[in-house]
Amino acid sequence: MPLPKAELHLHIEGTLEPELAFELAARNGVRLPYADTEELRKAYLFDDLQSFLDLYYSLMAVLRTEDDFEALAEAYLARAAAQGVRHAEIFFDPQAHTARGVPIGTVVEGLGRALDRSEARHGVTTRLILCFLRDLSAESAMETLEAARPYLHRITGVGLDSAEVGHPPSKFREVYAVADSLGLRKVAHAGEEGPPSYITEALDVLGVERVDHGLRALEDPELVARLVRDRIPLTLCPLSNVRLRAVRSLTEHPLRRMMDAGLLCTVNSDDPAYFGGYVGDNFDAVESALGLSREDLRVLARNSFVAAFLGELTIAADLTRVPLPKRTP
Ligand code: HPA
Ligand code: ZN
Repeated sequence: MPLPKAELHLHIEGTLEPELAFELAARNGVRLPYADTEELRKAYLFDDLQSFLDLYYSLMAVLRTEDDFEALAEAYLARAAAQGVRHAEIFFDPQAHTARGVPIGTVVEGLGRALDRSEARHGVTTRLILCFLRDLSAESAMETLEAARPYLHRITGVGLDSAEVGHPPSKFREVYAVADSLGLRKVAHAGEEGPPSYITEALDVLGVERVDHGLRALEDPELVARLVRDRIPLTLCPLSNVRLRAVRSLTEHPLRRMMDAGLLCTVNSDDPAYFGGYVGDNFDAVESALGLSREDLRVLARNSFVAAFLGELTIAADLTRVPLPKRTP
């Protein structure tokens, strides 16, 4: 039985498996520049974040209708449930779709169909987090938030993703202030490829409650002390970091050092179709590469519920479902 866990850093577009991409391409009459799934998989060799993003955005061409977004989310939820996920906070990138002429309503309503039945069908509760593409303008982010207004009942928070370096959090000060005034929760990718100062800025300028990645936090001891003191959760994505070459190998991943420093770490999959595994696979990978104990894994699973945007009562209920580690006599 996999450990019950929450997944807090998951781009729904990054769950598009090659098989579904080809199925949707055929359904929508979209021509993919790959002969088959095998050839597409061979393209999954990345040098950095941007080389991944190029493929990630281009494959989205197959996502056109509510049915497509529903199928995408349904496939993710089934896989996640099989790996012990009980709660998923799911990112989506509306600008990557509106730029192609797919309205935000198609995206949200399509995803919403799968999310609405997720608890009954898969035992997975869900939240949706709207991400702004940080390599687009602040005006575009503001327009996106405006376009999302009719769907805010389905949206829990806002996030910030895409190409990080050169696009510091402060660029989005105003849109986060508006999001805050609308009662939305706030997260942002920071310190994946960008410097630790981006993490500090995300906290100070955007007022984020949780940092996505935060991988480079250890480079700044003052920042570490603050993250520990304020119990700011970090949503780490180990397999993603290796695939995008943010770390050289899994054995060099700072997760263990971050846990030892007292940081509130969680383990997530980011874009599992592209990075070689879903969240349970990430747990398995760090267990063996970093020699994590069963207790370490249990702490990570518990952290995922603590860091989730769930009410106190729901958290308590979820925690009671996390099995205690087996004692060896
Ligand atoms: N980083 C930044 N933006 C993204 C990512 C990521 O890992 N995945 C999808 N958009
Ligand atoms: Zn991410």
